[in-house]
Amino acid sequence: MTDAHVLVVGGSRGLGREFAEMARQQGSRVSTVARSAAEPTPDGHYAFDIRETAGIAPLLSRIVHQRGPLTQLAFFQRFRGSDDDWAGEIGTSLTAVKTFIEQVVSAFDLARPCAIVMVSSVNAQFISPQLPCSYHVAKAGMCQIARYYAVALGGKGIRVNAVCPATFVKPSNEVHYREHPDVYRAMAERSPLKRMGTWKDVADAIFFLLSDKASFITGQSLMVDGGISLQWQETLGS
Ligand SMILES: NC(=O)c1ccc[n+]([C@@H]2O[C@H](COP(=O)([O-])OP(=O)(O)OC[C@H]3O[C@@H](n4cnc5c(N)ncnc54)[C@H](OP(=O)(O)O)[C@@H]3O)[C@@H](O)[C@H]2O)c1
Repeated sequence: MTDAHVLVVGGSRGLGREFAEMARQQGSRVSTVARSAAEPTPDGHYAFDIRETAGIAPLLSRIVHQRGPLTQLAFFQRFRGSDDDWAGEIGTSLTAVKTFIEQVVSAFDLARPCAIVMVSSVNAQFISPQLPCSYHVAKAGMCQIARYYAVALGGKGIRVNAVCPATFVKPSNEVHYREHPDVYRAMAERSPLKRMGTWKDVADAIFFLLSDKASFITGQSLMVDGGISLQWQETLGS
């Protein structure tokens, strides 16, 4: 993604932070948005709550003014608040994404191929009873947002896709899996590839979808789950 300018929404920790670092190492200009900053705070970080949708257009103008037009936009945010999860999830995952996408068109360098990727989840299709209904609805909605704007923005040369990861290992939880190898083994054993996915597996899929190598792919929701969702539940463990 050399010469690219990627805006990473949710770039202060977890997968977003790792993705932002990888993009920097590959030579991209990277701007990040989150309420807090990663430590040490990278250049081009904008502290902003994406639920404040009225501020999204001014934020994008500021980023373009200070750091130049964008070529890519990637969403990694997740609502983790303890207040009303329905309003929180819809605001964080759907209203903010829709507003960013509608406003980013004028922030993109449309003389170049531009792309958007959002991180959805296997829960766009499948149910995890320990997670709230709001998470499932928000992640399913993200995939439909990807399809809608793939059609709406295709004529401007903007591609829009989603990735749908299963649970993955990231720096903040790898100690947990190392200290509980039984938990890791149980998860890995259910997967056709006999391992859990990592943040790098997911980041690589996002890089691909943002890159020109995916130039004829738009409106898709790519499962990044090592094939675990291919199996019929009744046959697992038999
Ligand atoms: N972890 C998994 O195993 C897994 C599996 C499937 C899908 N996913 C999806 O993958 C993505 C990344 O997951 P993760 O576990 O790495 O997430 P995470 O560690 O919770 O990071 C979420 C990021 O979003 C930012 N964010 C949250 N609310 C925000 C707001 N209102 N305004 C601005 N920024 C906000 C956070 O920063 P601040 O709090 O500082 O704002 C943080 O940078 C998420 O969309 C998640 O649903 C994760």
